[in-house]
Amino acid sequence: MVDCGADLVVGQHSHCVGCEEHYKEGVIVYGQGNFIFDLWGNEFWKTGIVVKANFGEKMEIEYIPICRENKGSGLGDKDIIDGFMKRSEQIKQPGFINAEYEKYALSMIDEYLAMLSSNDGSEFSDARNAERAKTENLRANYHPTVLAALENLFRCEAHNELIQAALHSITQSGQHHEG
Ligand SMILES: [Fe+2]
Repeated sequence: MVDCGADLVVGQHSHCVGCEEHYKEGVIVYGQGNFIFDLWGNEFWKTGIVVKANFGEKMEIEYIPICRENKGSGLGDKDIIDGFMKRSEQIKQPGFINAEYEKYALSMIDEYLAMLSSNDGSEFSDARNAERAKTENLRANYHPTVLAALENLFRCEAHNELIQAALHSITQSGQHHEG
C-alpha cells in the first residue's frame, strides 16, 4: 500500500500493541492493541495505542497509550509506547521476527492441542484449555506421525476448506453433541 502511495498503513487484529516500521515514504503500524476488550485480566489484551496523525505538508504521528480500567479505557502508562518503540528497533534485526514468532507459536500449541482433544462433552472453555495446557503433557499424546498429519491438515487449503465446510454444516444444523 505504501508502494502505491499510502502515507500510513495501520494493521489490526493481533489484539496486542505491535510496533512501527518506516518504509520508504510511509509508516506502517503493526497492531494498535485493544481499545476496550472484556478479556482484560490478560496483560497483553488490556493495552492499546491511539494513533494520532496529522496529514500536513509532512505527516506527523503521535502515539497515545491507553489502558483498560474498571469501567472503560483511560490514558495508559508511557511504558506501552516505550515497548512499542523498542520492538520497532528489534524488528530490524535479521531473524528476530521469525525467532520470536516460533517462540510464541510453541507457547500456544498446547492450548490448541487441548482444544482439539476436549472430548468429554463439556462446553468450550478457554480457561480449562489453558489449565490443561499447563498441567497435562498434551504433546506426548500424539505420535510424531500424527503431528505431521495435523500439520498437513492445517497447512493444506483443500483440507482446510473441507474441514471448515463440514464443521460449519454441523454447527449450523445443531447436530453437534450438546454435552
Ligand atoms: Fe480476534
